[in-house]
Amino acid sequence: MNKPFISTNSRSNADLDQRAIAILRENEWGDYTLPTKGLYPYQWNWDSMFVALGFSEFDLDRAWTEVETLFQGQWDNGMAAHIVFRQDDPSYFPGPKIWGSSHNPENPPTSGCSQPPVAATIVKDLYEKNPAAGKQRLEEIFPKLMKWHRWFHTMRIISGGAAIAVTHPWESGRDNSPDWDKALADVDPTGIQPYERKDTSHVDPSMRPTKFEYDRYLKLVEWGRERGWDHANITREGPFAVADPGITFILMRADRDLRSLALLLGKESAAHEIDTWLYRSQHAANYLWNDEIDAYAARNLRNGQHADGVSSVSFLSYYAGIAVPKRDARLQKTLDRILEASPYSVPSFDPEHPKFDSCRYWRGPTWAIVNYLIARGLQEYGFEEKAKRIRTDTRKMIQTSGFFEYFDPLTGEGAGGNNFTWTAAIWLAWASPMTD
Ligand code: DGY
Repeated sequence: MNKPFISTNSRSNADLDQRAIAILRENEWGDYTLPTKGLYPYQWNWDSMFVALGFSEFDLDRAWTEVETLFQGQWDNGMAAHIVFRQDDPSYFPGPKIWGSSHNPENPPTSGCSQPPVAATIVKDLYEKNPAAGKQRLEEIFPKLMKWHRWFHTMRIISGGAAIAVTHPWESGRDNSPDWDKALADVDPTGIQPYERKDTSHVDPSMRPTKFEYDRYLKLVEWGRERGWDHANITREGPFAVADPGITFILMRADRDLRSLALLLGKESAAHEIDTWLYRSQHAANYLWNDEIDAYAARNLRNGQHADGVSSVSFLSYYAGIAVPKRDARLQKTLDRILEASPYSVPSFDPEHPKFDSCRYWRGPTWAIVNYLIARGLQEYGFEEKAKRIRTDTRKMIQTSGFFEYFDPLTGEGAGGNNFTWTAAIWLAWASPMTD
């Protein structure tokens, strides 16, 4: 079990830089990197992409390799899965047998859903660090990114809609966010196979999802497996389909970045295809906006019901490139209120909402990776003070507590897994004074 609070006050920033590099190296598993040993013993999709960003600070070649290995698990239909398994590790549940997704016997086994598509944006970052070294690798990865984005725009959209659906909370990357509570409560877990969780033997159970949630997570896996992972069918008819502001905004940003890469490579027809995605996406923001909480919020695609609380991904609209002045004034007020209420911002869920839980995974804790994305968007829109505040908070949490998976937004204490690669990666790429 982790001790939730380890003071690193005595360490200098230079020590932390070295420690962050060591964490990336220690968690390397050949050509890919584990999120952290024990708790997550495989390659996770968005983890790996943030890790690539971290590697790009000191080993650009290795950064590209991390991206390339993720796509070894890409499905013929285009999906880049949320976990690439490669081997069966008994310390994790649910492993490849439970997912039962034999999409292509020549590729490594994977899970049956995807994860937030930060890859295209990070590929563009890698390329820009050294265009000459990256050109060939960009040429090779580009069609894979295109295929994956097309998968989202066809398989995770309900007819006529524009916001991207998740059909499993694990797909959102924000597993137990209150965003999913109502829709998840509608999933009937009757008939699930008996199972034994492994996560709670690595991490304090009060920092992890509940059994109520896990039963339903498992039901959704069994449901998909029984339908042979037919993604279009799962989105249309499955027990859970919720429009996610996180994936919707991250994909919009990634589409824009993919479009500039297409133009750079002289791929005009790909750029036109992306234009149609971007055009349609403009409506997604309207669909997600919740007037009652002055923020973008998840929305159940089965009944149109909005989530009633503000999650941190609401503020990714800037990162997505959405500017709607009347709405933004209200969104900024919401952000001001949340920054005021949480000394170590940005909490994954509104600290003034009854469902806020400062240590429980995505129900309150602050995550360095989300902070990085929010601040990047705010900075681009000229909200420099707020971007700076979020970066300073991230720096302070890591300086005080170390490289934890997430942090208590009220105290800055670390929680979840320790020696976490994506936190180390964000330190190297953005939070460390070295990047000033
Ligand atoms: C887990 O096992 O907790 C992961 O978040 C699923 O991706």
